[in-house]
Amino acid sequence: MNTDQATAWNGAEGSNWARHHRRTTGINAPLGTVLIEAAEIAETDRVLDVGCGSGSSTLLAAAAARRGTVVGVDLSAVLLDSARADAAARGLRHVRFEQADAQVHPFPAGWFDVVISQFGVMFFADPVAAFANLARSLRADGRMVFVCPRKASANAWWTVPMGALLGTDTGADEPTSGMFSLGDAGRAGDILTAAGFVDVALDAVDLPLNFGPDLDTALDFFVGSGPVRAIVESNPALAEDVVRRRLAAALAPHHEAEGVQLAGAFWLVRARRP
Ligand SMILES: C[S@@+](CC[C@H](N)C(=O)[O-])C[C@H]1O[C@@H](n2cnc3c(N)ncnc32)[C@H](O)[C@@H]1O
Repeated sequence: MNTDQATAWNGAEGSNWARHHRRTTGINAPLGTVLIEAAEIAETDRVLDVGCGSGSSTLLAAAAARRGTVVGVDLSAVLLDSARADAAARGLRHVRFEQADAQVHPFPAGWFDVVISQFGVMFFADPVAAFANLARSLRADGRMVFVCPRKASANAWWTVPMGALLGTDTGADEPTSGMFSLGDAGRAGDILTAAGFVDVALDAVDLPLNFGPDLDTALDFFVGSGPVRAIVESNPALAEDVVRRRLAAALAPHHEAEGVQLAGAFWLVRARRP
């Protein structure tokens, strides 16, 4: 179903994320902590991590569900390789990773206690069908907890690099697909309700993302990222050194003691299967 996503995350986009998630200060690390605390995972829980990527949230879930089972699912072979290597290095036997499209994968019905996701549920071609599939995988009264971006204009990690390359028009604010597809609270709530979830609650979380200890690391991430590559590919006149120079100038003011940090605005979403 989600073939464009599978192509992107098995190709350059997946490799770029895999390379940068190797760093100890993972870009999404602060969000992972928020997510895992909110998920209230019990020791014996069965947990599904959707769009787990290189597995940072899966491994946090595994530490919480240490006598349970944790399954990470993702489209990307390259990211799952990295996740499996990290789990093996920690000797974790109750974690496994599957390459699958979460929208249509036949998960065992009613099996999981908790579905979590860190940035992995915004890309579905048919979000209602996908969330309904996730709801089916949960036991009655099971819960889903995930984090996703709020609207594009509230996220400096988007507006700063995109603004440097595109000017003020850095992307539609209420898109129906892609990174910001759940940014509108009303739309996100409608999708989850239509998929069969109840008690849907969205709480705003504001925290910075850390793109590396120095400007070069952050630049390397942004130059390799899907959105920047798409701009470069559609503007042959935009030379790579110009892109790097513009991005460097835009990112430099955000280089702080902790590294290159850009403000982020997210939803922490909780919902329950009745
Ligand atoms: C922004 S990355 C987040 C990865 C990881 N959760 C993290 O925080 O580092 C989005 C991930 O969702 C995965 N993804 C997108 N659509 C998916 C689908 N339909 N089924 C499974 N995974 C999907 C992508 O392959 C990618 O790894």
